[in-house]
Amino acid sequence: MPNAVQTTPEVGLDGITEDPDWWRQAAVYQIYPRSFADSNGDGIGDLVGITSRIPHLAALGVDAVWLSPFYPSALADGGYDVDDYRDVDPKLGTLADFDAMIAALHDAGIKLVIDIVPNHSSNQHPWFKEALSAPKGSPERDRYIFRDGTGPDGAQPPSDWESMFGGPAWEPVGDGQFYLHLFAREQPDFNWENQEVRADFLATLRFWSDRGVDGFRVDVAHGLAKDLTADPLATWAELDSATTDGSHPFWDRDGVHSIYAEWRKVLNEYDPPRTAVAEAWVAPSRRARFASPDSLGQSFNFDLLSADFDAGQFRVVITEDLALSGKSGSSSTWVLSNHDVVRHATRYGLPPKDAHCTIWPGRAWLLTGGTRPALERNLGLRRARAATLLMLALPGSAYLYQGEELGLHEIADIPDEARQDPTFFRNGDVDVGRDGCRIPLPWSAGGPSFGFGTAAAHLPQPAGFGRLSVETQEGDPSSTLWMYRDALRLRRRLQSSERLRWVDSGYPDVLHFQRDGGWESVTNFQDQPIALPDGEILISSSVVTDGRLPANSTAWLVRREPETPGKHVREG
Ligand code: GLC
Ligand code: CA
Repeated sequence: MPNAVQTTPEVGLDGITEDPDWWRQAAVYQIYPRSFADSNGDGIGDLVGITSRIPHLAALGVDAVWLSPFYPSALADGGYDVDDYRDVDPKLGTLADFDAMIAALHDAGIKLVIDIVPNHSSNQHPWFKEALSAPKGSPERDRYIFRDGTGPDGAQPPSDWESMFGGPAWEPVGDGQFYLHLFAREQPDFNWENQEVRADFLATLRFWSDRGVDGFRVDVAHGLAKDLTADPLATWAELDSATTDGSHPFWDRDGVHSIYAEWRKVLNEYDPPRTAVAEAWVAPSRRARFASPDSLGQSFNFDLLSADFDAGQFRVVITEDLALSGKSGSSSTWVLSNHDVVRHATRYGLPPKDAHCTIWPGRAWLLTGGTRPALERNLGLRRARAATLLMLALPGSAYLYQGEELGLHEIADIPDEARQDPTFFRNGDVDVGRDGCRIPLPWSAGGPSFGFGTAAAHLPQPAGFGRLSVETQEGDPSSTLWMYRDALRLRRRLQSSERLRWVDSGYPDVLHFQRDGGWESVTNFQDQPIALPDGEILISSSVVTDGRLPANSTAWLVRREPETPGKHVREG
C-alpha cells in the first residue's frame, strides 16, 4: 500500500533504499517551467534551464519538484492546454532533455512530480481536430462534450454556463453543435465516460512512470465526472448555490472516484508506487475521498489561501486538516502560494478585503482585488516569512512555489499588451489574472533578464528585480533565501511523527505548538512583541532580542526545561 505508514523501507533494484512514504512530509517545490530558467536565449524557460539550476534546488533542500505542464502547447493557458500528453513542447526541449533532467534531479536526491491535465485537452490535440471534422454523433465527437444548440433556431448554447475564466462555457462549431469548455475556449473538456479517453490517460500515466517520474499532480481533479443529462440543464445561477454534496453537474461528483481507483492500480504497479496529489477545490469534508490510499493518495488543502494573517483562522485550518488527513490515511498538504494565486507576501500586505480569494467551487484561485490598493510591502514580506516558517513546522507536506524563497511579491504593473493569462482576456475588467505571480525568476543582480536567460524574458520583469536575485540574496545571511535554506535543512532533521500538540502561550493572537522530538514553533500574529519560553532559538523569521519575538514573526525553539505537553490534536 503506497499510503499506509510503512516502517520497512524497500530496497530498489539498484540497491538504493526507496522509501515509499517519501511524500508524507516532503517539501515540494513547484516549477512553472516557462518562467524558471531559459537556456537558449529565446526568452522562454526550458528543461535544460531547469537542469542547470538543480544546484539551487539542492542547496535549498527540497525533497521534490512539481513541474507544471511542459507538454506541446499553443499556450492559451500557460501550458494547461495540452496538445500531446506524451511529449515535450519543442519550445521547452525534447524527451532526451526530460530524461537528462530527471536523471540529474534523482542524482541530487530530488524526486519529480509532473502535472497531468485530464479535464480537458487543447483544441490543437489531434483528437479535438478529428472531432471537429467528424459529424455530429460520431465516435470522434464522443471523446469530448458536444451538445446541440437550443432556442427556436438552435443558435443558443445548451446552457448559460460560464467558463472559469469568464465568458460562455459553450463554443459553437458551426453545424448546430456546441462543445463544453469549463476553462478557455482552447480547452475542450473530455468526456470521461468514453473508454478511449480513460484508456489513453492510463497509457500516459505509464509512459511517464516508465521514464522514472515519481508522482503526478492532477489538474482540476474534481471536474472529470460530469452529468449533463438534465433537460434543460440547470442555470448558472442555480448551480452557484447547491454545490458541496456531489449533486453538481460537473464539480466533485462521486463518479470521479472510479477514475482514480483505476489510476491508483496503475500507479501501484510501480516500485515504489507513484504518488499523486489532487487539485480538487472541494469542501474540506470531501477532500479525503481524493486523498485516500485507494484513490490519488493526497489532495491539496487550499484553505490557507483564503485565511487572513490571523491566529484564529490559521488554527481552525490546521486543526481541521490534521484531523481530516488523519482519517483518510493521507498526510496534510500546505499551500501558501502557487501559479494561480496572488503571492503570499503580497496577500499579507493588503487589507484583508482586497487580498481575499473569491470562494466558490472551482474558482477560489481567481483572486480579485489586484495588487493596487495600499500594499504594505515590508509588512507583507515579514508576515509571509512568518507564515512560511509556521507552515514548514507543521506535520505533512509543504508545497512551495518558485520565487517564494526570494520573498517575491506579485508583480502588479504588467502592461496589458504583455499579459498572457486567459483570465485577463476573458474577464480583465474583474480580474487581471495570474501573470503577476509568473514573472521569470531573477537569478543574478544584472543582465538582460537578471540571469533568467540571455535575452528579455517572455513576461516583463520589473526594474530593480536584481536586488531580489538568488545571487544578491546568497550574499546576505538575513535574506529570505537563507531563511528558506536554513528552515528546510532544520525541517529535514527535525521532522519525525505527524503529531502536533498545541501549547497555550498565554497570548491571544499567537500560535504555539510542539512537535515530537521536543521542538516548538511560535508565531506572533499580533502587533506587539511577546516573550518566548526560555530555550535555544533554532531559527526565526525576524531577529529575536532578549527572548522577545517581534510582531508578525515565527521562531522555532527547543526549551531548556521541557514543558508538560499540552492538548494532543492528532495522534499520528
Ligand atoms: C488548474 C491550474 C490552472 C489552470 C486550470 C485549467 O486550476 O492550476 O493554472 O488554468 O487548472 O487547466
Ligand atoms: Ca528557452
